[in-house]
Amino acid sequence: MSKIRAAITGVGGYVPDYVLTNKELETMVDTTDEWITTRTGVKERRILKGENKGVSVMAIEAVKQLLDRTGTDPREVDLIIFATVTPDMVFPATANVVSAAVGAVNAFGFDLSAACSGFLYALVTGARFIESGQHKKVIVIGADKMSSILDYTDRTTCIIFGDGAGCVLLEPTAEEVGVMDAILRSDGTGEAFLHMKAGGSRIPASHESVDQRLHFIRQEGSAVFKFAVTNMAEVAAEIMERNHLTGQDVAWLAPHQANKRIIDATANRMGLAEEKVMMNIAKYGNTTAATIPLLLWDYEQQLHKGDIIILAAFGGGFTWGSVYVKWAYNPKP
Ligand code: UT7
Repeated sequence: MSKIRAAITGVGGYVPDYVLTNKELETMVDTTDEWITTRTGVKERRILKGENKGVSVMAIEAVKQLLDRTGTDPREVDLIIFATVTPDMVFPATANVVSAAVGAVNAFGFDLSAACSGFLYALVTGARFIESGQHKKVIVIGADKMSSILDYTDRTTCIIFGDGAGCVLLEPTAEEVGVMDAILRSDGTGEAFLHMKAGGSRIPASHESVDQRLHFIRQEGSAVFKFAVTNMAEVAAEIMERNHLTGQDVAWLAPHQANKRIIDATANRMGLAEEKVMMNIAKYGNTTAATIPLLLWDYEQQLHKGDIIILAAFGGGFTWGSVYVKWAYNPKP
């Protein structure tokens, strides 16, 4: 009997309308379009505006599009995994908010927190449920409303991040396509360099925590950069080596969009030409768990059945990993 694999059979995405440009950021903090562009590669990012709008607002739109594009009846969905560090609330899980909104009444769901590697962790988790043979339709979402945890007086973080949501449908296949291999890693000592201190059980919200601005993301950028550049490149190279893949075999690299310089270093280590590297950092910035599914969304029309794609990420935790995917379908009209 052939092995059951989890194939990505569709992609959905959503970015909010509001475009926050580098020029507008110049009026908010001491920065320049030139600094942001050369140091990060970001030109603009999308921001979800409006009162009481959580990350679910974007994820629901992305999932509705996915269901529509794949002709999936929401009642057939077995599981929704939602990777995010900006859930609507601490609980209940935002996955459940999404299921209720899209009519996935037979699905169970949970949120998964692995920062910028969240989509990869969730993709591999979803793939295991499919491979078990017990689940036929799993939706994996990567979405973040980073603007809800950004300090717009801190020029070292607010210029990097943006809001967005992407998702994929996983279904079983007996063909040689789908999620082929994965390497996932984490190292808790990374907490020191990238975190949001308050709002959890260690430092619950209080007047003091708000006054001390502890509900915002803090990052030691250059320290994280060094870890990211080494680990993301290493893990991408490792998955290629153990699957006997060369730069020639790989059709696409879909790298987490944290910094164009990190992406270039990873592609270089893999021996990949620039035209094989998916990139949308210029228009969306770093959307944390959403970067990789938004890449698949943006590039879907250029992907063909059998294309070898390496997904790679590095982020808070630290967390990092790479996933080897063989694309399962040709462009749909
Ligand atoms: O996605 C999760 C994982 N995160 C990452 O992978 C991010 C990794 N880190 C980075 O991408 C980069 O470190 C940053 C983009 C965050 C920062 O770039 P950098 O080249 O590492 O800059 P730096 O932190 O070493 O700072 C260099 C200088 C400093 O000034 P001094 O001390 O040399 O006078 C900063 O104060 O640049 C200054 N600076 C800025 N200047 C203008 C920092 N932010 C800005 C800014 N505009 N927005």
